[in-house]
This record gives sequence, structure tokens and C-alpha cells, in this order.
Amino acid sequence: MSTVDKSRDRVKKMFAEIAPRYDLLNHVLSLNIDTLWRSRTVRALELNQTDPVLDVCTGTGDLALAIARKHRGVFPVIGSDFCLPMLQRARSKQTAPGSGDLNVSFIEADTEQLPFPDNKFQAVTVAFGIRNVSETNRGLSEMLRVCKPGGVVAILEFSRPTFPGLSQLYDAYFRWVLPKIGQSLSKNDQSAYNYLPASVREFPSGRAMMDLMESIGLRDVRQTPMTFGVATLYLGTK
Ligand SMILES: C[S@@+](CC[C@H](N)C(=O)[O-])C[C@H]1O[C@@H](n2cnc3c(N)ncnc32)[C@H](O)[C@@H]1O
Repeated sequence: MSTVDKSRDRVKKMFAEIAPRYDLLNHVLSLNIDTLWRSRTVRALELNQTDPVLDVCTGTGDLALAIARKHRGVFPVIGSDFCLPMLQRARSKQTAPGSGDLNVSFIEADTEQLPFPDNKFQAVTVAFGIRNVSETNRGLSEMLRVCKPGGVVAILEFSRPTFPGLSQLYDAYFRWVLPKIGQSLSKNDQSAYNYLPASVREFPSGRAMMDLMESIGLRDVRQTPMTFGVATLYLGTK
């Protein structure tokens, strides 16, 4: 039983409040390593078809934009999220000078009820998003439904390092340092950066995440821990 309030309205409001500073906070709190994690994710997808790609819980769009930049024009990329202020940030990056035609679009949609037909996308991705979806299984099942047979579902998510010593350091950083920096920079009164460590603590990590992916019907599920397992990329095939 979860002790973290992940009700849709709460999550939506929290991200709407931190949207203006989300990117800055992300890069500061992760020492910019999040950019590296997303690049590795794009490479691991090995996209070689012309069908579209969907990035759910896209937020300010960094993963969708990274995919679109690497495969410029080969296929359309859609980023979806239910928080409009986050999407507005994503759209402003898409049209930033020098972006060119990236063939990416950002739409408002709930991951638990995706407005797409079955079997549409060659890959469906999510970065640091599925943990925030109220009903994890429902969100994952929707990702699977809209993915083509043979396509890939990719989840980049925080995980818990298993290294002795490092896991204590990680816990201390997440529990004490990160909420303080986060809150002072974002001035968020919904305690978004207390929510972050609590939601990570409760979310499946490693083998448990792979079991969850298999239980919804993904096969050939594999994991790549990054930065000593602080984040993990999980891939599964439909
Ligand atoms: C931590 S942010 C991650 C954003 C981005 N993917 C990234 O890598 O930085 C989580 C995002 O998930 C979105 N989200 C949470 N639950 C959602 C849902 N049920 N449907 C759509 N978006 C959701 C939030 O609005 C937020 O933008």
C-alpha cells in the first residue's frame, strides 16, 4: 500500500507549479547526468523503422526531443503529458532558434488513457514518469497497447544502487540534501522534492521492475543500470 499521494490532481498541480524551473532543477540536482542517461536511452532504442515513436509523461520534452534530433525527419515523434505548463516548456524548446524541423509534436494526454489506436508506435518510452502515474499497471498496459508487436517499451527510472556504502550515501542525498535544494530553488509548497525521494523509495527497482514489465506481457525484458544504479533503463519487447 502506497503512502505517497499520487492522485492525478495532486501530481498535475505539483508539476504545474515546478514547470518553470523543472529543467534547471533537473540538471542541478543530477549534476547534469540526466542528459547522459537520456542520450544512452536514445542509443539503446536502436530505432530503424519509419513508424512513429511515443514518449509518455514527456514533461518538458527532453527525451522526445533527443529522439527527434538523433533521427531527424525519419519518423514523427509525439510527446504526451497531462500537465499543460510542462508541455508549454516542451513546445518552446521545439521551436527554439536553431532547432530546425524536428518532426516532433506535444499533446495533452493521460498516460492511463492514451488517445491512440492499438499497435501504432515502433517504440513507446517514458523517462522518470511512470513512477508518478497513479495506477502504474494501467499506464504500463496503455504503453504496451499502443506499441507495435515487435516494438520496444523503454522505461528510464530512478533505481536504488545496490553498492554497499553508496546506497546509504544515495539515501542521505535523496532524503536530506535534494529536498532542501529543490524546495529553495522552486519555492514549491506542494513538497515536490519530498515527494521525489518518497516516490522513488516505494517504486519497484531492478528485478521487481522487470517482473512488473513481464507481468503486463512484455518479453525479453532487460535492464541497464547507469551511474552505479542510480538510474536504470529497462527495455522490453511487445
Ligand atoms: C518527473 S516528470 C518527467 C518528465 C520528463 N519525462 C523527463 O524526463 O524529465 C514526470 C511527468 O509525468 C507527468 N505525468 C504524471 N502522471 C501522468 C499521467 N497520468 N498522464 C500524463 N502525464 C503524467 C507529469 O505531468 C510530469 O510532467
